[in-house]
Amino acid sequence: MASIRMERLRKVFGKVVAVADVSLEIADGEFMVLLGPSGCGKTTMLRCLAGLERPDGGRVFIGDRDVTDAPPATRGIAMVFQSYAVFPHMTVRDNIAFGLRMRGVPPDKVRRRVEDGAALLQIDQLLDRYPAQLSGGQRQRVAVARAIVMQPEVLLMDEPLSNLDALLRLQMRAELKRLHEEVRSTTVYVTHDQVEALSLGQRIAVIRGGQVVQCDTPGRVYDAPANRFVGGFIGSPPMNFLDATLRRDGAGAAVEVGGARIPLPRAPQAADGGEVVVGIRPEHIAVQPAPSPDGVRARVVVLEPLGPQALLTVRAGAETLKVTTPVEFHAEPGAEVWLRFDAARIRLMDARTGDALAG
Ligand SMILES: Nc1ncnc2c1ncn2[C@@H]1O[C@H](COP(=O)(O)OP(=O)(O)OP(=O)(O)O)[C@@H](O)[C@H]1O
Ligand SMILES: [Mg+2]
Repeated sequence: MASIRMERLRKVFGKVVAVADVSLEIADGEFMVLLGPSGCGKTTMLRCLAGLERPDGGRVFIGDRDVTDAPPATRGIAMVFQSYAVFPHMTVRDNIAFGLRMRGVPPDKVRRRVEDGAALLQIDQLLDRYPAQLSGGQRQRVAVARAIVMQPEVLLMDEPLSNLDALLRLQMRAELKRLHEEVRSTTVYVTHDQVEALSLGQRIAVIRGGQVVQCDTPGRVYDAPANRFVGGFIGSPPMNFLDATLRRDGAGAAVEVGGARIPLPRAPQAADGGEVVVGIRPEHIAVQPAPSPDGVRARVVVLEPLGPQALLTVRAGAETLKVTTPVEFHAEPGAEVWLRFDAARIRLMDARTGDALAG
């Protein structure tokens, strides 16, 4: 059993609360992503799990064992660090074997595990090279191989792809996903890249200011962000937000936004006349040349073809919105258009708190 449980975990550096009473459970074999902006406490959380940082409050459990005060070597974990330091004076083989030798694993077993690990990461042709003779991506794979040959119950990875170029990131991302399907270690993966999080995570914990603001499947985090921060952090381009007023009457609920009235399929928990924010993703807006009662009037700013689709920037009142359109779509800057929101995909938020409204 290698589930992980953090209970009200807290870590403070002077006046900075890096981890603010976080409670989070990660299931045995799960791939959990910690996602959040720079400085939100991701690395600190991981270091507390690893035992490299002593928490100021709360407990950490691995399996049923309370490891809060246990030294790192006894926790059954392996970690790939943000600066994936490999030893420059050792060959790839010796780098990967290092931890196993430290643990006193017999030499023939070390050799077998190193070769298996290298094959899994497709660096078996490189075992006799030194790190200086490798590309960044190959060096990265050495760091991952070094961690997985330990056959850890828990694998912690801190932005392992951050030093790679875009294409290599894409390849390594798929490789890491495949690797997890083979190795099945309980994995905690830290990133500030939302695409990486959506791609890799079975669940994503979105972190802000040392707190988990939402923890859910990639689909839920994307479709049903818990608040404005999550909607604005996930998605490229992110969710659009518009100020609106909620209307409720005998016929049901609607939002009034930019002169349009959009009927809602479900009534949210907010009163008639309530100030709300409409959250809508770029792909859930259709652009029309003619007005309609539920169409928000807007003016075209710019149209950018992006290969499989185009990205349209429009202004609706004081707001700038992004809309994805088919590549065939054409519009001149300055043209008037009407935006129709897919009402079922609207995420309503409280204008004051930014929290999503139930309903
Ligand atoms: N050893 C330390 N001493 C003082 N402050 C620290 C220390 N380590 C981290 N911090 C502070 O704690 C906060 C969280 O840092 P942390 O490294 O966990 O962030 P992060 O989410 O990993 O950021 P990044 O994406 O930039 O790596 C930051 O404000 C950081 O400045
Ligand atoms: Mg970090």
